[in-house]
Amino acid sequence: METLVLGGTNFIGLHLVQLLHSQGNKVTVLNRGKSLRSMPEGIIQLTADREDHAAVARTLKDKQFDVVYDIYAKPHSNLKSLLEILVGNTGHYIFCSSVVVYAPSQIFPVLEQSPKNFSADMPVLAKLKVASEELLMKFFDERSLPISIIRPSVVYGPDNTQPKRDCKIFELLDRGRKVIIPGSGQQLFHPIHVDDLATLFLATSTNKNSYGEAYTGCGPDSSTGTGYVKMVGEIMGVKPEIVHVETSKFDSICREVGISGEHDIFPYAWRVNRTYTNEKAKRDLSWFPQYSIKEGTTMTYNWWRQNNLNQTGPPNDRAAVPPPPSEELKFSADDKVLERLGI
Ligand SMILES: NC(=O)c1ccc[n+]([C@@H]2O[C@H](COP(=O)([O-])OP(=O)(O)OC[C@H]3O[C@@H](n4cnc5c(N)ncnc54)[C@H](OP(=O)(O)O)[C@@H]3O)[C@@H](O)[C@H]2O)c1
Repeated sequence: METLVLGGTNFIGLHLVQLLHSQGNKVTVLNRGKSLRSMPEGIIQLTADREDHAAVARTLKDKQFDVVYDIYAKPHSNLKSLLEILVGNTGHYIFCSSVVVYAPSQIFPVLEQSPKNFSADMPVLAKLKVASEELLMKFFDERSLPISIIRPSVVYGPDNTQPKRDCKIFELLDRGRKVIIPGSGQQLFHPIHVDDLATLFLATSTNKNSYGEAYTGCGPDSSTGTGYVKMVGEIMGVKPEIVHVETSKFDSICREVGISGEHDIFPYAWRVNRTYTNEKAKRDLSWFPQYSIKEGTTMTYNWWRQNNLNQTGPPNDRAAVPPPPSEELKFSADDKVLERLGI
């Protein structure tokens, strides 16, 4: 296949590019050229900023692709102009959405047809993804552009660019620091390994059943927050010291010290359960995730150690990057909470 991966140079996009390339597909990537990870030989690299409609149009002019995977997939305002460029010269467009589009639910697992979140106070990313999905279905219905949507849950694995996810837990445990889990630690989260997500994108692009459909991308199992930290401790051979903080007390500490309870402390669902199902992708696309959380996390931890990320911090191949933050700065949010708790 002749493929284009928009945003194909970092975490999810990079793993998709490596998979497509290993299977003999012709791969072009388009990004701004700020992330400078080494790409497999033979990948064509195009440079344009997705915020700049004219530059994207110029760069993609007269180019044809069997499949376009949109991993960057952020700006709804620019999506329409991108789709106008792609109509007529693209066999299949696949959009990387997110499970953030689903409305909060008390019924689990959340399904692809479960209600979407249209509430006014939802995060900007969720708003953009919901609006983008609406636009995409319009293009599918009215402009005959074959479209599919993938909604990944929390993505983890080697090359993760989000420093406050798996790498943060490894680092806390490696340094014998306490791990704060707000609430009871009994809420479930349901991640997907980055390589399973890459195979889901590939399976979607090689099956016409996926036209006009959305698929949740989640792994084979889910975990409670406490269960996850204990499992990571087992993998690392250390005994985690977990600190639970009652939710309303935690919220008021976060307000007092000016940090985000959702993002700065414990990077997985702790307020509500978040579990999904991958039955639809299995049924329509014969796709099956390979990595249990334990297998995938063991692989990620080995990558983290082998690359000495315990010394340097999370990966960053960018050209002129600031040095990794000092220990004090990196864990300052955790330290503020522990100080307020008097621990
Ligand atoms: N990570 C998760 O847990 C998760 C969960 C659900 C959904 N998602 C979705 O996954 C996608 C992000 O994937 P990722 O984690 O691989 O992101 P990432 O590591 O931040 O990589 C983003 C890619 O987009 C390129 N890019 C960024 N800004 C650009 C711009 N203005 N114009 C052109 N290219 C640009 C980057 O290259 P340059 O910097 O060189 O431009 C890079 O190739 C998003 O759509 C996100 O909503 C992620």
